[in-house]
Amino acid sequence: MRGNDEADLRAARQELRKAERVVVFTGAGVSAESGVPTFRGKDGLWKRHRPESLATPQAFRRDPRLVWEWYGWRRDLIVGCEPNPAHLAIAQAQLESDARIHVVTQNVDGLHELALRSVLGQGREPPERLRPLEIHGSIYRSRCTACGREIADRSVIDASRLESLPTCLECHGLMRPAVVWYGEALDSTLLDTAFTLAAEADICLVVGTSALVHPAAAIPRATIAGGGSLIEVNPNPTPLSPSAALSLLGQAGSVLPRILP
Ligand code: OAD
Repeated sequence: MRGNDEADLRAARQELRKAERVVVFTGAGVSAESGVPTFRGKDGLWKRHRPESLATPQAFRRDPRLVWEWYGWRRDLIVGCEPNPAHLAIAQAQLESDARIHVVTQNVDGLHELALRSVLGQGREPPERLRPLEIHGSIYRSRCTACGREIADRSVIDASRLESLPTCLECHGLMRPAVVWYGEALDSTLLDTAFTLAAEADICLVVGTSALVHPAAAIPRATIAGGGSLIEVNPNPTPLSPSAALSLLGQAGSVLPRILP
């Protein structure tokens, strides 16, 4: 593991420039400077709330109103957040790289895609191949618990009563947030794609994740197994740090604009 002096930043920049394929693997820390709370930090969400009460299928079956109240609160909070210099640097690098750089994110906040739109400007749609793989789902999507229909959903949630919770337009079943909860499997197609991209990458740039939640946390290790290397950006060490070629101890918003080509 190494520190964060000018030489390390320069080395990271050179490595990223040289690399033919890069996966940027992000967690909650990349959005911290946008005002989205992380899960495990000092002010993390899991310090104030118990995941078992809010982020499991059992919790939803027990008390869907409470779970929707929490996701409605998070959606309201995230709607007011903007991409920060880290998201923008990644998006800019992606757009200039012609699909050399892919983003795999554990975040459900949509800020990587918003950054792509913001860099593209004039309401232009990001090309499909540059869209981030959101392996834990999206706060802006909902899925019917009865028929499985999934929709884009940016509505304001009224969780004051069971009867006011979102229901399916097709079958009137209860909708749920289309995010991955504890105890649930990730979408296997997305996960396979993420592992393949990581295995083929020369560099996995790991940003703002505690690397504690599996299977996501294993994705950067696929890059090492495939002969590539890790560059980590995080103010704190993580279980991946000892395996990183460069571990840059800093905030994503100040480090990424300095290292991305
Ligand atoms: P965590 O909250 O576990 O970790 C956030 C990481 O970001 C920590 O390692 C911090 O040190 C780091 N960090 C904080 N501020 C930062 C900054 N400005 N720049 C860079 N890094 C910063 O979040 P995740 O690792 O994303 O799962 O958590 C993984 C999963 O656990 C989430 O996707 C969610 C959660 O339960 C599901 O919802 C399924």
